[in-house]
Amino acid sequence: MAFTIAVDGPAAAGKGTISRAVAAHFGFAHLDTGLLYRAVGRRTLDGIKAIDAATVLVAEDLLADDLRSPEVAQAASKVAVLPEVRAALVDFQRAFARRSGGAVLDGRDIGTVICPEAEAKLFITASAEVRAQRRFAELVADGVRTDFDRVLSDVWERDARDMGRADAPLRPAEDAVRIDTSQIDIDAAVAQAIDAVNRAHRSD
Ligand code: CDP
Repeated sequence: MAFTIAVDGPAAAGKGTISRAVAAHFGFAHLDTGLLYRAVGRRTLDGIKAIDAATVLVAEDLLADDLRSPEVAQAASKVAVLPEVRAALVDFQRAFARRSGGAVLDGRDIGTVICPEAEAKLFITASAEVRAQRRFAELVADGVRTDFDRVLSDVWERDARDMGRADAPLRPAEDAVRIDTSQIDIDAAVAQAIDAVNRAHRSD
């Protein structure tokens, strides 16, 4: 049985944690599509053209250990503006979404462009300050030297680029269930997400 759960939202809203927990709950596979853009962005920092990197991307590229750095995040959002890069990554994501046994994909355009027919769609948000606070704590825990204002301006810059691009801009699908995680902890957010998927399943 194929069943796709599309999870979209801006940087550090909690998509990744919620998606992993939802996938574990339902026994589905999980794909963090941001890693595809991060892997391409990382290659551009070595001087490789984005479209060339996107065309030859392989699964092992998603395992590189520096993909979570702020520099790679910015590079990812720059290559994500390019329609030919996005096009090169579509087939892989769609095949993953329709694998048998169910799939959770998180990203920016899963419910709107990659899987408009997804059985369940979630849009995870939080205020920019809360998101920057969370990302700052993650970076500090990973030993990255940075300061809060820098992380906040990175979040703003990436939000503006992701929402403002012409191809597949970040926005909620009309039928997405919105979950604002600004005031709730991760357990409550996961519970809301599972509840929304169960409701979508029953109305199928
Ligand atoms: O973890 P975080 O939310 O900070 O970022 P990410 O999900 O790893 O995505 C990194 C960048 O890739 C984003 O800022 C987007 O520009 C881009 N992206 C995208 O355009 N479409 C997706 N489906 C996933 C990520």
